[in-house]
Amino acid sequence: MNHPLIAPGCVAFVTGGAAGIGLALARRFIEADMRVAIADKNEAALEEAVDILGAGDRVKSFALDVAHRGELELAADRLFGAWEGLHVLVNNAGIQPGSTVLDDANWDHVLAVNLGGIVNGTQVFVPRMLAAGEEGVVINTGSKQGITTPPGDPAYNVAKAGVKAFTEALEHDLRNREGARISAHLLIPGFVYTGLTKGGRTEKPAAAWTPEETADFALQSLGRGDFYILCPDNDVPRALDEKRIAWAAGDIVENRPPLSRWHKDWAERFSTYVNRD
Ligand code: NAI
Repeated sequence: MNHPLIAPGCVAFVTGGAAGIGLALARRFIEADMRVAIADKNEAALEEAVDILGAGDRVKSFALDVAHRGELELAADRLFGAWEGLHVLVNNAGIQPGSTVLDDANWDHVLAVNLGGIVNGTQVFVPRMLAAGEEGVVINTGSKQGITTPPGDPAYNVAKAGVKAFTEALEHDLRNREGARISAHLLIPGFVYTGLTKGGRTEKPAAAWTPEETADFALQSLGRGDFYILCPDNDVPRALDEKRIAWAAGDIVENRPPLSRWHKDWAERFSTYVNRD
């Protein structure tokens, strides 16, 4: 069942909307007869995406960088000026250029886009949505890497852990705010074949979902009212994610070393744990 706001006439604003998961969501919104604004830093991809969506004046595009709050403010002024409302805000733009713990390369950029972009989008658009007094949803794209924080790309993990904490705080604020009719949701994709994960590949690996599968799952989950939109993929079912998440939390509860899942003295115990029924 669709969320009541995924409906004709409703307005969506999607960052990172020119490609991947953002574009797949924008496509579903257009199919639901909504009006959709896509925002992206990549102007060429943005133009192509407008053509792909092919919905005439039900589509707007904004070339902007989510790390720059002023650019989002300009877009918000133009959007509210033209369409007088916003019902579905998707803060989704993200990058993954790689990082290591002791080298500062990429840290500022990753934090500014993946975390800063979500804080900016929320703080620019949600007050306007609240002032309009209508129902709304905010979907912020996080990652499993912000929950189980695997070794390999600490800047990305830190940013996505921040997205989780920020979006939880947002939902708590909104549900306790007098008169607010807006809910927040954390989209946690699985492995999705997009520009972000493609690397040198030209074909989708069997393990990965398509952006469209991810968008469909996300909208079903949103329709059920889930806060945590925890997507599986072709390799990782929900039950395995649940065990990985519980094990990561267990590092503190059981006083294990951090990231024990990847620790030589614990890896076997983790493996026994996940393979237990
Ligand atoms: P993608 O690369 O296909 O799409 C991301 C879009 O964001 C691109 O169009 C890009 O131009 C845009 N973008 C990047 N920096 C921007 C900026 N500063 N301002 C505005 N737009 C900007 O990647 P994908 O996979 O669709 O990523 C969407 C979100 O999903 C990201 O937040 C990513 O971290 C997250 N994610 C993706 C997973 C995957 O397996 N693909 C897994 C978990 C999370």
